[in-house]
Amino acid sequence: MEKLLLTKSELKYVPKSYIFPSEIRPGNAKVPLCEFIPVIDMKQEQTKLIQQITNACKDYGIFQLINHGIEEKLLEDVLNVTKEFFELPYEEKSSLFSNDPNKIFRELVGSYSGEVGKLSLRILDMIGEGLGLELGYFRDKTELAAAQLMNMNHYPPCPDPSLTLGLPKHGDANMITFILQEMDGLQVFRDDQWFAVKPLPNAFVVNIGYILEIVSNGKLKCGEHRVVTNQNVGRTTVGSFIYPSFDCRVEPAKVLINNNNNNNSGSEPLYRDFIFKDFLASFLIDTNTNNKSPLDRYIYKRE
Ligand code: OGA
Ligand code: NI
Repeated sequence: MEKLLLTKSELKYVPKSYIFPSEIRPGNAKVPLCEFIPVIDMKQEQTKLIQQITNACKDYGIFQLINHGIEEKLLEDVLNVTKEFFELPYEEKSSLFSNDPNKIFRELVGSYSGEVGKLSLRILDMIGEGLGLELGYFRDKTELAAAQLMNMNHYPPCPDPSLTLGLPKHGDANMITFILQEMDGLQVFRDDQWFAVKPLPNAFVVNIGYILEIVSNGKLKCGEHRVVTNQNVGRTTVGSFIYPSFDCRVEPAKVLINNNNNNNSGSEPLYRDFIFKDFLASFLIDTNTNNKSPLDRYIYKRE
């Protein structure tokens, strides 16, 4: 079978089909290091922690999380096993996902996804509390955090990183994302400019997805990001994504919307309600072909 992954020695130039249109190519412009992304230490007093996380989600939609309690060894192992996976010949890669998967791979990825899933739900609870939602809003009261998806990414070395992207500009179509990474490549978009995220050892990059932006009625921001490639080294990342169930009804949380008690704490709904699987379909069209905000078509219009 044809080999899908090329190594540096085999690739002398960027294949034509990988070259991005000039408007979205990274080019050679130097991207400044991002100083403003909050680095949040989980080993601190709970009220302060909730405040810091909520503020980060309001301002940037992205933050780094340290001292989160997941063992360093597990993070290291899961990154290593992911790298090994991408080094395997094509046939063996596919067999790992067959009915008889490699035990070590399955166990490591299984315990990693369990740990990071639990951590994401804890962070979501804190965000809910920061927003003033009732306890367990995302998981007991709704199906907004019903599913977890793991995504292993490998961005091979690229002969000319100015021409292409590992991932083009996007926001995630989910509630919250945890990225495990160990080298630079991830960039965030803010004030019409790109900034490089500084990799911190054993930290997670956490970003808010479009669904949480909608549920928060625009109080929290979906952090838009992209991935650039590197000329010399490949980059491996592991992403964990918390999603609603496919049939989940998504809408701004009622307590964040103007209600009849005139306490002025709420505001007009910014988004109309919809079913998550319909959003996913339109998200893919808007992100991949229309280059418009996937939120546009869900903006609430008064009848
Ligand atoms: C994603 C993503 C970032 C990375 O998978 O949506 O943004 O660094 N990944 O791999
Ligand atoms: Ni993403």
